[in-house]
Amino acid sequence: MQSLHLSLFEEFKRKYERALGRGDPEAARDYALKCARILKALAEKVPGKREFYLEKAESWEKAARELEARPPSPVPQGNTRGAGSEDEYRTYVEGLISTSTVTWNDIGGLHEVKKLLAQNVALAFAKKPEAIKPWRGILLFGPPGTGKTLLASAAAGSLKATFFNVKASDVLSKYYGESSKLISVLYGVAKEKAPSIIFIDEVDALSLKRENVHEATRRTLATLLAEIDGFKGDGEKFVLTLVATNTPWDLDEALLSRFPVRIYVPLPDKEAAREIVRIHTRGLDTSRLDLEAIAEESVRRLYSGREIANLCSMAIHHMLEDVNPELADLERLSSAGIKDLQLKVRPLEMEDFEIAFKKIKSPLTKKDIERYEKWAEEFGGRN
Ligand SMILES: Nc1ncnc2c1ncn2[C@@H]1O[C@H](COP(=O)(O)OP(=O)(O)O)[C@@H](O)[C@H]1O
Ligand SMILES: [Mg+2]
Repeated sequence: MQSLHLSLFEEFKRKYERALGRGDPEAARDYALKCARILKALAEKVPGKREFYLEKAESWEKAARELEARPPSPVPQGNTRGAGSEDEYRTYVEGLISTSTVTWNDIGGLHEVKKLLAQNVALAFAKKPEAIKPWRGILLFGPPGTGKTLLASAAAGSLKATFFNVKASDVLSKYYGESSKLISVLYGVAKEKAPSIIFIDEVDALSLKRENVHEATRRTLATLLAEIDGFKGDGEKFVLTLVATNTPWDLDEALLSRFPVRIYVPLPDKEAAREIVRIHTRGLDTSRLDLEAIAEESVRRLYSGREIANLCSMAIHHMLEDVNPELADLERLSSAGIKDLQLKVRPLEMEDFEIAFKKIKSPLTKKDIERYEKWAEEFGGRN
């Protein structure tokens, strides 16, 4: 029941993001309210996480209210360069800079992908003869939760490049109607702080293939393409654009053509699943686990890295509840009790995982996977 709610929630959330992406605040508001309603229902159903869900519901209601306040059809600002707003853009863009602490070792499996990405990034940033033109853009595609964001963070972490972490739907919603301006400022700041990597997650939000594409989305995409094109990769001033999507078939030809290097990030195979379990159980005793069996079951269930990570947290929680019965005692968990609560641990057991497996479902079907593989075969670029 709970998982039904959660998958509905995920669906509405996706639709909300899509609606924002295509610049449809009314639909987005509607979906935000639906998300809030589901979270409230969950708050009733899962007493242990009541506060948690209510808090989330509230933030969705807030998002809905903000959309209401927005003019339905914003007037394009053209090239007005009001000092105030320029500053505001800069502040926002500088806020996108993140320091990555992710290393290649935090990513299980994907050995070929890591190598390919590391090579291409190195190629882009290395000193080279003028005749060698670096790639300006790299596309990562594959099912959700397979590590695309992680890979981008690791790529940035491995270089001393300034890393701008951008979510396309955020850009479109935050500066609704003026997101194209924001993209220009983003590239301007990235050049100033070069060498830089601009990572645009969920780049499919900038697609024009869908119905009812808003003018703002159209302009934003045009600006992005122009920024990528207009850029001469001159040495130190290099800016690499890394984009990721879970729905590569939604991307426009114009965008795809700027990303000749397309890297498929697939679901983990058995070996990768095993590595991901190891990463997410670091520091705990796993000697009693049959990692082979856990990996096999994860693959059979079409788990992504995210689901395997969730599986591990769930198993770890089960272990903790088992040896710390006081965790069920709400009284003790209130502020006074927490300070002297010393958590005990025991080795992880297969039973912890068996229980966790029952709770975690992959959102994917075999058919979905085939769709990725087919796209990879047809358009997959140099993978
Ligand atoms: N290959 C992997 N190795 C380790 N953890 C992973 C891997 N793939 C996914 N995860 C876990 O799942 C989470 C979500 O992954 P993310 O990179 O955001 O996926 P994507 O961007 O492809 O949707 C990560 O933060 C990490 O905890
Ligand atoms: Mg991601």
